[in-house]
Amino acid sequence: MIQKPKGTKDIFGLDIKIYQLVFDVFESLAKSYNIQKIITPTFESYELFQKSNGEDSDIVSKEIYKFEDYNNRLLALKPEGTASIGRAILENKLLNNTKFNKLYYIDSMYRYEKPQKGRMRQFYQIGVEFIDENLNSNLIIDAIVLAKTFLEKLSISDFEININNIGTIQEREKYINVLKQYFSDYKESLSLISQKRIETNPLRILDDKTDSKLEIVKNAPKISEFLSQESKDKFNSILSILDDLNIPYAVNEQLVRGLDYYSNIVFEFISSSSALGTKSTIIGGGCYLDLMNNNDENKINGIGFAIGVERVFEILKQNLSSKFEDEERVDVFFILENEQQYNQVRKIIYELRSNDVVVEYNLKSRKFKKLLDEAQKMKSQLIVFQELNQHNTNKWTIKTNNVNINVDVNDLVDKIEKNLKY
Ligand code: HAM
Repeated sequence: MIQKPKGTKDIFGLDIKIYQLVFDVFESLAKSYNIQKIITPTFESYELFQKSNGEDSDIVSKEIYKFEDYNNRLLALKPEGTASIGRAILENKLLNNTKFNKLYYIDSMYRYEKPQKGRMRQFYQIGVEFIDENLNSNLIIDAIVLAKTFLEKLSISDFEININNIGTIQEREKYINVLKQYFSDYKESLSLISQKRIETNPLRILDDKTDSKLEIVKNAPKISEFLSQESKDKFNSILSILDDLNIPYAVNEQLVRGLDYYSNIVFEFISSSSALGTKSTIIGGGCYLDLMNNNDENKINGIGFAIGVERVFEILKQNLSSKFEDEERVDVFFILENEQQYNQVRKIIYELRSNDVVVEYNLKSRKFKKLLDEAQKMKSQLIVFQELNQHNTNKWTIKTNNVNINVDVNDLVDKIEKNLKY
């Protein structure tokens, strides 16, 4: 039998309800923040990610799904959403249109990673991008509060907000040179991949999943020593607003984030839920300057984050499964025993459904008792059928929890709607 590719999943039943809840909770919050939804293509030119995420990032160097189409164009399945948003803003000339400066997306992303709980090769992200030339501190706070409120609305509480200031490109340049020197002295203690990164991108050694735990990495020079006073002041003012809002956070100087476009403030929401096995980042984001690396006046600066839906899903599934099972419900079940009965109520069924009543009926004709069982298994509020003496007439019976009501077919819609309890 052909099976689904490794790192992908089919989502149905209870799981789809949890996904839907996650999307619904986010979308209703997005309304309060006046954020517009955007849908971008599933695949983009490979060059887009190469330029904006950085050639040396994990995403581009070893995780991206790239392919040539029949016309030899080099394309890639989206590994993340921010680059596409940058492209869409420029291509649709939205940069100076304030209506589209706050955007969100709910999309499948693709990365060739080693699959495990909460880490998939196809996964959903809910992403937010606030485009703003000056990286306004209020927008940075908006982003953090939005992400936090989202988790709270889902009753997820076992997370810590980590935040860091990685400075501007110029500030980082000085720091990177010092790091190169520092790590060269300890080369042998680092993993092979980190050894390579000493030259290409020593910052990434700081938040490498394994090497970040080494003492020599923990003791490496800190970015804060290389920041301008202005940059430090801005960071401190953001931290004091978070204090004012009673939002707990930890400044984590090892947090650098893995994509080239980040600048200044970066943050992650790290969950310690047992549902994920190990501590994992459920939301990651930060500020970016010149997202598209285009060096012209159409520079895209902004603040954004993405929620890893599968990770949120794992936590919710552990917390919520029983609640969802109880919510399964059908409003009306029609027991239909012959073609004549189907014909009599067909229009009625569609009318009820278009009035938002949940209606089900049996597809196969079986013994009445079996059909009644089927209806009861679906926890239907009302069951509609013809008693034996009603066969070949226009009379029907509505069975509620405690009474049977006899009605004429013409009054069925009205009587059903009156007897439904919401
Ligand atoms: P990211 O940190 O690469 O950032 O991904 C954001 C979140 O997506 C992660 O924190 C994680 O929860 C989830 N995630 C990442 N990879 C996987 C995977 N293989 N399986 C399941 N979940 C995963 C970005 O993608 C940036 N575009 C976020 C951003 C938006 N920054 C600014 N604006």
